[in-house]
Amino acid sequence: MKTLLLTWWTGYIWSHNAVLLLEQWYQVILFDNLSNSDKSTVENIKEIAASSLLGKERVERSLKFYEGDLRNTSDLEKVFSENTIDTVIHFAWAKAVGESCEKPFEYYENNVVGTLNLTKVMEKHNCKNIIFSSSATVYDPSQTPPFSEETKTGNTTNPYGTTKFLIENILRDLATHADFRVINLRYFNPVWAHESGLIGEDPNDIPNNLLPFIMKVAAGELTELSVFGNDYDTVDGTGVRDYIHVVDLAQWHLSALKHLESNTTHLLYENINLGTWAGTSVMEMITFTEEIIGASLPHKIVARRPWDIASAYCSPDKAEKLLWWKAEKSVKQAIDDSWNFIQQKKS
Ligand code: UD1
Repeated sequence: MKTLLLTWWTGYIWSHNAVLLLEQWYQVILFDNLSNSDKSTVENIKEIAASSLLGKERVERSLKFYEGDLRNTSDLEKVFSENTIDTVIHFAWAKAVGESCEKPFEYYENNVVGTLNLTKVMEKHNCKNIIFSSSATVYDPSQTPPFSEETKTGNTTNPYGTTKFLIENILRDLATHADFRVINLRYFNPVWAHESGLIGEDPNDIPNNLLPFIMKVAAGELTELSVFGNDYDTVDGTGVRDYIHVVDLAQWHLSALKHLESNTTHLLYENINLGTWAGTSVMEMITFTEEIIGASLPHKIVARRPWDIASAYCSPDKAEKLLWWKAEKSVKQAIDDSWNFIQQKKS
């Protein structure tokens, strides 16, 4: 049985992946400092995995949790010395673009220094397979969508994006010069609600991303949504993004893992877009939500955010061909699952 390490496993976000990997008979180790999550999510993962084919006992044996921080090499040493790890799935630390502008050093330390520590310990323990959560934000804002993997990257507009760009480049060097085998998965805009309604995104503070904010307004916890700009060159003037469902995202990770395992070439370095081809505007997101909740969603138009671009969506051609997985879930399903999660949480 192969052993995987899931880093910066920040609770709700990556739980879906953990369940799927357990179902595929992997030994799964979760590593996180719990700064942005709650240990109870480990129990939810166990519950979902045990209710499938696995059974409670096997889930208990196959899932381990280590509380630790990538900035502390000794925490990593502990995990690597107590386990033989085949592949690391290196998830993202905090994903708030705005926050990264206010606290750039935190982002550099957590993401860049954290990745350096991780890869150093990996090399020491001869574990060289890594799948990294990169982002659409690495693309040069001057480029026009749909973005392919060949689209120009760089000129990032915020520290979050810069860390992703830097890490991709560090991993490329390690693939070339230190025999690492790397897949950078460039996510477009993930929506984090599982169809079970048991795990999803509902931050305690005011959300940064669009859909969690919309959900808080729909649930009556916030009074109205601010739409950041309606004068972009898009279908209705509001920002267009490529929203992906976390269940598809989890499948893509599994496929990437299989690709790493089946591809025996010494040198492996791939950048892969994870998206749908489809862009959805903020106003369309509002309309879809209104249809699902059966009520109107209060909103007002305000100024643009300084770092936003008009439109970001991609060609997922490479993911379809290399990873054999095409997004199955629509943005409407993602909104529906988010709403279901919020309602279950409240009841
Ligand atoms: C950015 C990154 C994405 C990353 C994500 C993580 C780009 C192109 N994308 O997504 O790769 O995964 O951050 O946070 O850099 N909006 C509103 N009102 C709100 C919130 C958002 O109108 O209250 C609008 C934004 O202006 C944007 C869209 O909704 O047009 C999506 O915004 P958001 O959810 O914050 O994600 P991005 O910034 O696109």
